[in-house]
Amino acid sequence: LAKVEVELGAIPEGKNVIIKWRGKPVFIRHRTQSEIEEARTADWKTFRDPESDEDRVKKPEWLVMLGVCTHLGCVPIGEAGDYGGWFCPCHGSHYDISGRARKGPAPLNLEVPAYEFTEGDEKVVI
Ligand code: FES
Repeated sequence: LAKVEVELGAIPEGKNVIIKWRGKPVFIRHRTQSEIEEARTADWKTFRDPESDEDRVKKPEWLVMLGVCTHLGCVPIGEAGDYGGWFCPCHGSHYDISGRARKGPAPLNLEVPAYEFTEGDEKVVI
C-alpha cells in the first residue's frame, strides 16, 4: 500500500501537522523540550492504557500517531484539552502530549502507525 513521505524541516518546534495516510489523518507534532519532559515524567503506569512515552516515539521530539479517537473515531483537535495534547469534541476525550488517553470515554491511546525516519532524518515515511 501507498506510503507517504513528510518533510520534517517544514514543521517548526511546537507545531502540529495533519497529513492523510490511507484515508486517515495522521498527526505529527514537533515537540518542545518541556513537552518531552512532561510526556516522560507523567505517571503513565496509572493511566487507563499504560504506555511509556519512550514506547510511543522513535525520537523524543517527533510524535507520530493516527488522528482517530479511540472512542468512536472522530478527529481530535490539537493543542486542546486538559493535558496539553488533543481533545476530541465528539464526547469529550482528552489526550496528553504523548497521545495517551487521560480523561473521557476513549479507552485507548491514539494509535501509533509503523513509520521510519529516512537517512539524514529529514523525512518521515509512514
Ligand atoms: Fe472521541 Fe467519542 S469519538 S470522544
